[in-house]
Amino acid sequence: MLKLDRKYFGQDLNAAADKLWPDALKALNSLKSKTCPGQEFTGWFDWPAQQGLALIESVTTWRDSLDVDFDLIVVIGIGGSYLGTRAVSDISTHSFAAGMKNQATISGKPMIVFAGHNMSETSLGELLDLMSVRKPIVNVISKSGTTTEPGVAFRVIRSFIEKHYPKDSTRRIIATTDARKGALRRLAADCGYKSFEVPDTVGGRYSVLTAVGLVPLALHGYDIASLMQGADRVFKDLSKSEPSTEGALALHYAQCRTAAWNNGKKVEVMAYPEPKMRNISEWWKQLFGESDGKDGKGLFPASIECTMDLHSMGQYMQEGARIMMETFLAVDHPRKVDISLEHKTVTVPKAASNLDELQYLEGRGVDSINDTAMLATRIAHSSGGVPCLELRLPDLTPNSLGAMFATFETACAVGGLMLQVNPFNQPGVEAYKLKMFELLGKPKS
Ligand code: PA5
Repeated sequence: MLKLDRKYFGQDLNAAADKLWPDALKALNSLKSKTCPGQEFTGWFDWPAQQGLALIESVTTWRDSLDVDFDLIVVIGIGGSYLGTRAVSDISTHSFAAGMKNQATISGKPMIVFAGHNMSETSLGELLDLMSVRKPIVNVISKSGTTTEPGVAFRVIRSFIEKHYPKDSTRRIIATTDARKGALRRLAADCGYKSFEVPDTVGGRYSVLTAVGLVPLALHGYDIASLMQGADRVFKDLSKSEPSTEGALALHYAQCRTAAWNNGKKVEVMAYPEPKMRNISEWWKQLFGESDGKDGKGLFPASIECTMDLHSMGQYMQEGARIMMETFLAVDHPRKVDISLEHKTVTVPKAASNLDELQYLEGRGVDSINDTAMLATRIAHSSGGVPCLELRLPDLTPNSLGAMFATFETACAVGGLMLQVNPFNQPGVEAYKLKMFELLGKPKS
């Protein structure tokens, strides 16, 4: 179960946050009753019980009957259409898989890569190199079906697949998009691709537990059932009139963020302890940035990797402008990523001499040193005037990640409603698109 530690958040801010409990409950109730702004996009709330658990069955049945020989999954998508999948797959993939002898992950899972989240010719060219030495399967994901970055990438990748797999190109492409509208839906119907739906009621950044995340993760051999069960547990608590466990934690986190904003903070920095969690922070940044950042409001979400960034951003965090709060995302057992798999223990070995002055750490696990470094950083930053929270996960298993997704989504929606913005739209994203279309000469429809 997730835990929230507010010890270093500051007495005044904690008191201000506590006073916001009735507001948080009110926001939660408006979410539950679907009377909040953006009510048409609240289908992610209680998604596991409503549709998610049933969807697991159908995705698993499809995956088990798939008759395509592949060792590479290419996920095409941007924003909410890929970040959740990437966050999860990074955790469960060997960091050095590409250099391992069997060129796969240590657990023999197919390799998973991502495209369509930038406009880099270098990246696409290198991906085609990889695809030419592998047997790819492609999952193109776009809710609107019209986003330019995944659209361009898919055009390139589709052309590659059609050329190299003339007999079964159609079976190597899976489309996840709106049930009825958009260019990708029309293309999928025209070409006969297997397709999955992004529900109308779920926006991109809240969609990781829909087919958007489940299909590529199922192809990757991930335990999507446990992921969904973890989220279900949190939503069950939230369904009570007064949530008391992880649901309450989501509300408390929203209250703390709101109190920080009300007290003049402008930035929330997520500090995470493990390189593999980088894309959890990217997913979190999109979720909160697009949900809160409206009408001149919202904490700007940023992140630092511990301990790496303490040697770059640490100085600013300690002594720079006092505009931020910090949330440490800690993990009790970061090497526990799967029920059946725990990565190697690495401890500081004994040495013949103490010339490197590290004898005092002999026998200690590197994770345990890292956890102490995180605590030390939290104490130091809070004494430097940065209110610090700690959100602690027991491990990085599918179940814990599912609970984490549900917790952050709820905290984000509740906090956005307390801020009096619509946390489910992103009108500001259109501005760059319109200018880009004009400059590229896109015909007006
Ligand atoms: O949260 C959102 O809705 C957006 O950030 C989308 O995820 C992102 O823009 C991608 O959109 P689409 O899936 O329509 O290509």
